[in-house]
Amino acid sequence: MASKLFDHGKLERNISLLGIASLIVVAIGGIVEIAPLFWIDNTIEKVEGMRPYTPLELAGRNIYIREGCYNCHSQMIRPFRDETERYGHYSLAAESMYDHPFQWGSKRTGPDLARVGGRYSDEWHVQHMKDPRAVVPESIMPTYPFLADRELKAGDMRGDLTALTRVGVPYSETDVAKANDDLKAQADPTADSGDLLKRYPKAQVRDFDGDPGKLTEMDALVAYLQMLGTLVDVDAAQPQEKPR
Ligand code: HEC
Repeated sequence: MASKLFDHGKLERNISLLGIASLIVVAIGGIVEIAPLFWIDNTIEKVEGMRPYTPLELAGRNIYIREGCYNCHSQMIRPFRDETERYGHYSLAAESMYDHPFQWGSKRTGPDLARVGGRYSDEWHVQHMKDPRAVVPESIMPTYPFLADRELKAGDMRGDLTALTRVGVPYSETDVAKANDDLKAQADPTADSGDLLKRYPKAQVRDFDGDPGKLTEMDALVAYLQMLGTLVDVDAAQPQEKPR
């Protein structure tokens, strides 16, 4: 009765064979779903303004990861009305294309931070990091006062930029060579930042922590937070599949 072309009974009674066969079937399904994303044009929208992080922003991002801020904060605004009314335009894939690792997150004890840049003053952030209850009385966020005291020891940022270049972030040779100077220049309002701004459009150059004499971890973290969501003009970016 059963076709002798393929003896299914044999497959079902041999657990290893069944395991391997299942794996092959699931793998084919996975490839069919995932592989086209690498070729179709609209996986990542074409947007204006997205650029790699400046060395100072990157150092701030490293602190964000070190302190585990992602355990309570997401960086992905989902395309639902309650989210977009609270946080702004939903996140575009292009906005995290230079994130390695990405910070989308899956847990929100605190609010989403994808567009927090420019929402508050630097002073607010510094106060909030030192003692969140000082500005938001009902906050349950931990305090991070040490960030303001600790000198920024970012190490050699050329290494960070080189590593990111290897995974496809388009830093130029000049960006890599000048990484350590760029890091200092962005937090120093007296430095000549023309060259930095040419290579990193919209980079915000100032003293971020209210202590111009010292380059601290707070400078880097606030520089990072103030940049989040400010690079791309999201309303001008149109999804590719909807011709207008
Ligand atoms: C234990 C969870 C927790 C951790 C860890 C945490 N936060 Fe928060 N965060 C919160 C909560 C809750 C709020 C909302 C209340 C407030 O504003 O303090 C918040 C608010 C914020 C806000 C204001 C956002 C807005 O739109 O009002 C920023 C910025 C922020 N956190 C940054 C950070 C950074 C940077 C770190 C890591 C150094 C961090 N948080 C770590 C819980 C956390």
